Amino acid sequence: MIVVTGGTSGLGYECARTLVLDPRNHVVITGRDGARTHASAAAINAHGRPLDLSSRASVLAFAGELVAADLPPLRGLVCNAGLQFTSRVLTADGMEATFAINHLGHVGLIRELVDHLVAPARIVLVSSGTHNPDQFTGMPHPLHATARELAYPPESAESPQRDARRRYSTSKLANLQTAYHLARELAPRGITVNAYDPGLMPGTGLARDAGTFQRAAWRTIARTLLVLPGVRTPRRSGADLAWLVAAPERAGDTGEYLVGRRPVRSSKVSYDEELQAALYRDSIELLDELDARTA
Ligand SMILES: NC(=O)c1ccc[n+]([C@@H]2O[C@H](COP(=O)([O-])OP(=O)(O)OC[C@H]3O[C@@H](n4cnc5c(N)ncnc54)[C@H](OP(=O)(O)O)[C@@H]3O)[C@@H](O)[C@H]2O)c1
Repeated sequence: MIVVTGGTSGLGYECARTLVLDPRNHVVITGRDGARTHASAAAINAHGRPLDLSSRASVLAFAGELVAADLPPLRGLVCNAGLQFTSRVLTADGMEATFAINHLGHVGLIRELVDHLVAPARIVLVSSGTHNPDQFTGMPHPLHATARELAYPPESAESPQRDARRRYSTSKLANLQTAYHLARELAPRGITVNAYDPGLMPGTGLARDAGTFQRAAWRTIARTLLVLPGVRTPRRSGADLAWLVAAPERAGDTGEYLVGRRPVRSSKVSYDEELQAALYRDSIELLDELDARTA
């Protein structure tokens, strides 16, 4: 079984669509809304289950039900779901939502499922070139702050939109740091962990929180950008993501950051092992606090 979070649209949907072409793959996609998730899954012969990564209770319920169900062994987990806000949004758990969904929700999900992964198994975290200050993406550079500061940020001196965009690139750096950290931690257990940059994919739902004009531009004008290097369709990037989590020739490859199918260097700071470990340790502490609050 391979689980793809955020499989109802964009990259995750296209990844799942490729994975189901191999009848040996039992593919589970997730999305927040149960009916919409089941409909998306049915369209591509996958299986759908609801999961809201902004909610610790939803992550625990999803993982508990998945593990209890009579399903093939869990071999792959694609941490793909993500979104970008245009203003400060808090989750019902009281955390800044970009950090909570793009990073912490996935750390929580991995934590619940890791003991149920059956080696050889693979985890892939979807990152983005926006994590890298040396790469021009038009996005503000990531913040350097502790997990706790990212989860419960003070008021920002920046405009709400710029602050929200910076939190997106920050969350993508966190995805990468998590992948590198877990690659080391999980190697002895036969679980590989890699990070993936799908390139700029105009037309996905990523800009759904933006204004009407920006959304229209994302869907239409941006498509004309497809001729530029680094700009790709969700279908192409989804196929590469499926390759990353399932292709036999990738067996054993771990701790890499790939653009398309090519391993590349990520930002300098992303390789700092102390920062990676601190982010992971603090993220687990935040999850423990959430659990203690609800216990
Ligand atoms: N588009 C780009 O140019 C681009 C570039 C680099 C990296 N990426 C990364 O690619 C990944 C996929 O993005 P996309 O462009 O394919 O966007 P998308 O079409 O909006 O897909 C995002 C997916 O995440 C799910 N999702 C959103 N909020 C969620 C939550 N709270 N809990 C659980 N699932 C949630 C959505 O499902 P529901 O709405 O059904 O819940 C949807 O299936 C993201 O990690 C993004 O950062 C995208």
